[in-house]
Amino acid sequence: MATDLPGPVSPSPRAASDGTAVRVEGLTRAFDGRPVIDKLDLTLRPGEFTVLLGRSGCGKSTLLRVLAGLDRDIEGTVLVPKRRAVAFQAPRLMPWKRVWRNVLLGLDGKPGRAVAESALEEVGLGHRSSAWPKTLSGGEAQRASLARALVREPDLLLLDEPFGALDALTRLNAQRLVAELWQRRGCAVLLVTHDVEEALLLADRALVMRDGVIAYETEVALDRPRSVGDPGFPALRSRLLTELGVDEPAAPGAAV
Ligand SMILES: Nc1ncnc2c1ncn2[C@@H]1O[C@H](COP(=O)(O)OP(=O)(O)OP(=O)(O)O)[C@@H](O)[C@H]1O
Ligand SMILES: [Mg+2]
Repeated sequence: MATDLPGPVSPSPRAASDGTAVRVEGLTRAFDGRPVIDKLDLTLRPGEFTVLLGRSGCGKSTLLRVLAGLDRDIEGTVLVPKRRAVAFQAPRLMPWKRVWRNVLLGLDGKPGRAVAESALEEVGLGHRSSAWPKTLSGGEAQRASLARALVREPDLLLLDEPFGALDALTRLNAQRLVAELWQRRGCAVLLVTHDVEEALLLADRALVMRDGVIAYETEVALDRPRSVGDPGFPALRSRLLTELGVDEPAAPGAAV
């Protein structure tokens, strides 16, 4: 859910002013005395598309919540742009508000319906502006959630497995949409995904989180638009899977 935050509390997310979109230094977040994030450092450049991979439970959503300002029970330095928005795996639409009102939820300054409709047009959902959330398909609800993030005109867009619940075809379309929106808007994106191929199709840089820190990172220097058949793809895919502790199946015809 996109969010606007109250004023800073210390320690709190503040705007980075040194040409980076996000600067995190020595971030620690513990639950019941157990650090899930443990002195983590991270820098995101303005306009960069970064993906965050890591095994289930390693702390990806926890990190995103901190960057979104939804969790301030932290130690360390977190500098983020003032304008940021987050979309979660579940679209989290309010069922008693029409789609366009959901898009504007929590925005300052009472913006008009036209603002919502322009964001809905951008995600191909202009025709469902008056609909009730329960009448949307899963993919449409996810696009409404993206529209809600976009009306915030974020400099940093945080996406926590936004395509996780979608079928394969809808997922492909949603990936394309996010790539287009990113190219048009030029905001920094941090996308959490479990899908290495998705990561390599979309990102400038892939990060792997492990043991509470960013344990591995790689540039994804492939030309766009990308396809899984690109020559550079297999090596990057294989390396990321290794970093994630996943053994790749033997290639067809490989000796056993
Ligand atoms: N509010 C909380 N109270 C206690 N423990 C929590 C809380 N939030 C998260 N945790 C724990 O912190 C760890 C990291 O959780 P997190 O949701 O960040 O993982 P994740 O990497 O996003 O996993 P997944 O890929 O399954 O979504 C987990 O062990 C989780 O149980
Ligand atoms: Mg998670």
